Amino acid sequence: MAQKAAKKRRDNARTSFMLLMLSVVLVFGFGLILGKQEQAIQQTAAVPNTVIQEAATETMTEEETAPPETVPETVPEYHQATDFWSAEKHIYLRANHQKQIAIGTKPGFSMENAVYGVSDENIAVVDEFGMITGVSRGECTVSVYCEAETLKIPVTVRELTVQDGCTYVDGILIANKSISLPEDYDPGMLPETAEAFKELQAAAKEEGLNIYIGSGYRSYQYQIKAYNSLVEAYGHEYADRISAKPGHSEHQTGYTVDCNTINEAFIETPEGQWLDKHCHEFGFIIRYPEGKEDITGYAYECWHIRYVGVDVATEIYEQGLTLEEYLDVVHIEDDIPPTEEETAPAEDMPSDDGYADFDTPVPEENPDYAEPGLYEEPVQEETVLSQYQETLPAVVEDDGIEIIDAPLEAP
Ligand code: DAL
Ligand code: ZN
Repeated sequence: MAQKAAKKRRDNARTSFMLLMLSVVLVFGFGLILGKQEQAIQQTAAVPNTVIQEAATETMTEEETAPPETVPETVPEYHQATDFWSAEKHIYLRANHQKQIAIGTKPGFSMENAVYGVSDENIAVVDEFGMITGVSRGECTVSVYCEAETLKIPVTVRELTVQDGCTYVDGILIANKSISLPEDYDPGMLPETAEAFKELQAAAKEEGLNIYIGSGYRSYQYQIKAYNSLVEAYGHEYADRISAKPGHSEHQTGYTVDCNTINEAFIETPEGQWLDKHCHEFGFIIRYPEGKEDITGYAYECWHIRYVGVDVATEIYEQGLTLEEYLDVVHIEDDIPPTEEETAPAEDMPSDDGYADFDTPVPEENPDYAEPGLYEEPVQEETVLSQYQETLPAVVEDDGIEIIDAPLEAP
């Protein structure tokens, strides 16, 4: 009996000892794993960004990268990390230009340990603070890795070229306050614009809406008179908010249409609302959107649409951008006084291109230059289209291309 009790005690002691040893091994092993993880994180900070982000992405499960179920109101839908996100869905910049990645975070979340990387350093590079520099034309992805979460943002690097005095960014012709068109660039309304407008007009008509051209193509010479009329009526400061100087008007590109009445009240009409929501489906953008005057240089023009093609227009529409932001060009209000020619009295206005009534006196008390009557009354579709079709596009020569955004040397 006594022997049995002693054996039991010995067994108990052995079991306790085994359990103790097991605990020690477990605690030690766990510590070792944690230590290894920490070491791995520290090592991560010492290797190039691109490598880090690839490794980090590989180890992320779908669940970890999926958007959280509840997100703060300020978090864009497209964010991929739960604690931080990009203010932009897509970053557009030109070669040699820089853009800071704008990161938003949940309250209290620190980006101190963030690591940035790019998928292709021949296209763009990123520094340790998230400043991206465009290297050469193309597409890549920038990744932000922080606290085991990765955010990926597509980057498009664009190239600006000048051909025969016209400026293109990735093939898109641009005219704004700082980028001009040559005086002799006179393509008339381009066929692709006229065709797209015809389709837009037909689609609107099916919904019982009447969208017509209030003003279409305008030559350099015409814009001199149009601009001067506004300067005479309102002075330079106001005129410059609503009208382009000669050589700077999008109407001279052949890609632009002013729809219906050139008046802010147009947006209150069913036609204005429809145009705002649907013009991108036909390849047009609202060129001077509301609240973007500091970027475009012009006050909101709900009637002014610019043809850029369906894909580009849809991207711009969906991301709520201006053409300036999309192409990474700026408008710079030039303070250069107008030339003698530009200040010449506005007279002999042609009567067939949308500014027929520009000489109509504008009532002093009405600051709205777009009073009905300044532009053409609605005209028949056939008349409008035949007017464009008569004008052939200018021949664009293949040579003489000047590349402004020369690629940076890849580091
Ligand atoms: N109203 C626009 C800015 C133009 O004159 O081209
Ligand atoms: Zn216009």
